[in-house]
Amino acid sequence: MNAIRIHRYGGPEVLQYEDAPRPQVQKGEVLIHVHAAGVNPLDWKVRSGSLNGFIQHKLPLIPGWDVSGVVEEVGFGVSQFKKGDAVCALTDPTRDGAYADYIAVREGALAMKPKSLHHVRAAAVPLSALAAWRSLFDLGHLQSGQRILIHGGSGGVGHFAVQLAKWKGAYVLATASTKNQESLRKLGADETIDYTSQKFEDVASNIDIVLDTVGGETQERSWLALKKGGVLISLVESPSGEKANQFEVRGMMCSVQPDGAQLNKITKLIDSAKLKPTIDRILPLSEARRAHELGQNGHVRGKIVLRVKDIQL
Ligand SMILES: NC(=O)c1ccc[n+]([C@@H]2O[C@H](COP(=O)([O-])OP(=O)(O)OC[C@H]3O[C@@H](n4cnc5c(N)ncnc54)[C@H](OP(=O)(O)O)[C@@H]3O)[C@@H](O)[C@H]2O)c1
Repeated sequence: MNAIRIHRYGGPEVLQYEDAPRPQVQKGEVLIHVHAAGVNPLDWKVRSGSLNGFIQHKLPLIPGWDVSGVVEEVGFGVSQFKKGDAVCALTDPTRDGAYADYIAVREGALAMKPKSLHHVRAAAVPLSALAAWRSLFDLGHLQSGQRILIHGGSGGVGHFAVQLAKWKGAYVLATASTKNQESLRKLGADETIDYTSQKFEDVASNIDIVLDTVGGETQERSWLALKKGGVLISLVESPSGEKANQFEVRGMMCSVQPDGAQLNKITKLIDSAKLKPTIDRILPLSEARRAHELGQNGHVRGKIVLRVKDIQL
């Protein structure tokens, strides 16, 4: 099959478009004919080797853990899915990913593809939307009427987080650069903050939840925006316990996991027009290097997706 593989860690140039063996399905797994693969910062963090201490991989490795496609074959014991089903998933990031014609995926990671989206748009959803859902609802227990500050509101995770928080009835403040202020408003943000010209902590106060998708000094300054008893949830680096005590708030790190049941809740919201992915760019699988070069600049609006099968959009 056609695949993008890495044989060593490094820059985008280590991504090689080549022939690779088609995966075999094991018990409890399905083989998916990949139609599209979503691109995430996880992909270039793994490719560069910067996650080597956290995730163990065998090389050569196929990156890309967001998939939308059609079930080609089901393994022994699979009960929820059958050949021909259109599905999407965040797949196991310790195994081969979806930058390929086929991927074997555990049944528990799968959800039916949203009916209202074609595969390219559906592939943009799983990892980012699951990360937003887990942060806001499982960890933050966001309630209607609460004030939430979402950093990077125009990014992969952020643009889902803004929509999910509005759906829940929260008051949403979101940060992005000048060019993305209008898109934040369109996503539903009540207040938009241009981090290139404003200090968010001068504008955002009395915040119940901060969602940090940026880290570094953005996280450092976020403590100032929280009200007592509030919570800082980061996707990037563990918040300091000392700082949390000092400000009488809590700090948490969110780590997203494959979860078909949770993804099903998300796809239902998409089909009821409550949530929608923004696609920054669609590239063919053979241009994975370009996708990484663009993505790792850190200024994607929504998502980049790789088109794997030649489908009608
Ligand atoms: N722990 C987990 O399980 C988990 C899950 C998902 C993601 N993550 C991590 O979370 C981070 C974000 O992921 P993502 O997919 O959302 O990334 P992304 O799509 O690459 O984020 C890009 C967005 O960030 C905005 N941005 C850049 N610098 C900013 C700043 N200083 N302040 C506010 N916004 C800024 C950009 O807006 P402008 O172009 O307007 O600057 C852009 O829209 C990554 O490090 C990723 O690895 C972790």
